[in-house]
Amino acid sequence: MNEAMIPMDAPSTAATHQQYREMMQLYEGAIREVRTKLEVLDAEFRVRYDRNPIHHIDARLKSPSSIIEKLRRKGLPPTLEAAEENLNDIAGVRIVCNYLEDIYRIAELLTRQNDVELVCRRDYIREPKDSGYRSLHLVVRIPVFLSSHTELVPVEVQIRTIAMDFWATLEHQLRYKSDQEATRQLRRRLKKCADDSARLDEEMQSIYTELCGGHEAQSG
Ligand code: GTP
Ligand code: MG
Repeated sequence: MNEAMIPMDAPSTAATHQQYREMMQLYEGAIREVRTKLEVLDAEFRVRYDRNPIHHIDARLKSPSSIIEKLRRKGLPPTLEAAEENLNDIAGVRIVCNYLEDIYRIAELLTRQNDVELVCRRDYIREPKDSGYRSLHLVVRIPVFLSSHTELVPVEVQIRTIAMDFWATLEHQLRYKSDQEATRQLRRRLKKCADDSARLDEEMQSIYTELCGGHEAQSG
């Protein structure tokens, strides 16, 4: 059997296990590369403008059970090969920014870099999901340099404000905690929370711009 076709959900042999480890190590490498790029940008802002656009960065590797579940949902076989070819979110990086405009600035500064290839961009801030969810989603491909060759590895990057992160985290927890479907009224209330916090983001941005807006333009 072709090694890449070894099912992920079969009792694992030493060979599959090794192949899985190598694949995950690659995605982990890609996460490190993206994280470093972001930390460098954030540090530059601290030195140049005396402030940090990034509040914090989270990263995660998709678990084997989530990978298998997503492949099933897409009607694909639960193999390493199918995962590599079809899933863009095995490596995920979440950037939580302080202000709304930081989101677009960080996205632009990251995707402008020579070794970063933008695969797809979805702006759920300009067009929020029906749930009220907001974030800017990018899929980028990034080179990971190995001993014998270089691999281009996809990473899903979610960029959002603290307020968007607060809402998404609690909404996600609520969805998985309750064993029943949220009623229409509860969904409406959650959506209202998302819309209220979006107004908060806009107001904080506006206050920031009024107080400190000229600063970066002058020193940049
Ligand atoms: P997935 O199969 O969930 O990965 O969907 P997709 O591949 O169509 O990607 P999508 O652009 O919908 O974004 C997926 C990711 O965004 C999810 O894994 C969540 O992290 C986040 N997300 C999207 N919608 C919501 C939502 O309504 N609430 C919360 N809390 N998170 C969301
Ligand atoms: Mg996902």
